[in-house]
Amino acid sequence: TCVICKDPCILCFLILCSTCINIHLKMSWTDAQRYCREQFHDLATIDNLEDLERLQASRKGSDYDIDSAWIGLYDDRTRWQWSYGNQDFKTGQDYDNWAGPEPNNVGAKQNCTMLMPQTGGWADKSCSDLAGPVCINGALDLYFVFALKMTWYKARKYCASHHTELAIVRDATENSKIYALMNSNAWIGLHRNPWSHWSDGSRTTYLNWETGLVGHHASPITKLYHHVDQKMSWTDAQRYCREQFHDLATIDNLEDLERLQASRRGSDYDIDTAWIGLYDDRTRWQWSYGNQDYKMGQDYDNWRQTEPNNRAGVENCTMIKINSGLWLDVPCNGEFNAVCINGGLDLYIINTAV
Ligand SMILES: *[C@@H]1O[C@H](CO)[C@@H](O)[C@H](O)[C@H]1NC(C)=O
Ligand SMILES: *[C@@H]1O[C@H](CO)[C@@H](O)[C@H](O)[C@H]1NC(C)=O
Repeated sequence: TCVICKDPCILCFLILCSTCINIHLKMSWTDAQRYCREQFHDLATIDNLEDLERLQASRKGSDYDIDSAWIGLYDDRTRWQWSYGNQDFKTGQDYDNWAGPEPNNVGAKQNCTMLMPQTGGWADKSCSDLAGPVCINGALDLYFVFALKMTWYKARKYCASHHTELAIVRDATENSKIYALMNSNAWIGLHRNPWSHWSDGSRTTYLNWETGLVGHHASPITKLYHHVDQKMSWTDAQRYCREQFHDLATIDNLEDLERLQASRRGSDYDIDTAWIGLYDDRTRWQWSYGNQDYKMGQDYDNWRQTEPNNRAGVENCTMIKINSGLWLDVPCNGEFNAVCINGGLDLYIINTAV
């Protein structure tokens, strides 16, 4: 049995729980989810070490001694995503080419997508099966199909080591481009990512599994930042980063920011300003890498006070002042240095259960 302890503060969405009363309840995860959604906002989300510590601190002094409680993390086996930018795959909406009864998740362990050589159709397969990688360049217009067979995870690393990512396939034309190049089973970047989201729909960026308790523990590998000391417009910087590395820099949290700053130190070059990948194409703010949505006011940011202000209606690209780490929206045709990221972004380490 699992327990919702008497203090729902430690279970429900942390921010909204400051005034809750103590109750003592045990229930299933689904009931706990319903309860939290009715009474507060949702089951707890823990996005970083500070959240965890706050959760623990809010528990201290409680006279209740049961130590275990539900949080909002769950294994949703229906969620697919592209390894490229961790983009969600919208089932029934995005292009797919599943062959016949696929995806059928045989034995509940088929988490990765293979292109079959006979038809170019897709099948879900165990990620530890062997196939050749299909990589895509940062500009998403060139495929590289390799004959060497390897697991899906190795395939992903293999692409990253060539500054690219496992292929994303967005329509039938792209699918047939790959099909024309392959003569054996091939991995693309579509995979089920069972622990990728919290109950409130937000993505997991931080996991703190007790060692050995789960078989599938994905933790992002460190992003590597590259500083380009050459002034250019944002669009040229994007092209440059996509050609030479993987894309313009993405900054998802404070650690990323600090690493970006640290990677700059020791450089004898004294220009402090550079492009990062965040921009507004006038329909939405997004990161250049993977065209990931950026939710203003919700996702991590480090805007300078009063930014982004879209001054004179012409500011839709983001420049970072590296020493202070502050972000500013500026016109995209300004000329700045650039910070790129390597293709190793979002590789996963898999810990197998003991
Ligand atoms: C696939 O996902 C399941 C959970 O849905 C997990 O138990 C299994 O370890 C995963 N397999 C691989 C190869 O990642
Ligand atoms: C910035 O906005 C202008 C329109 O105001 C648009 O034409 C341009 O494409 C945008 N730049 C980028 C990089 O999205």
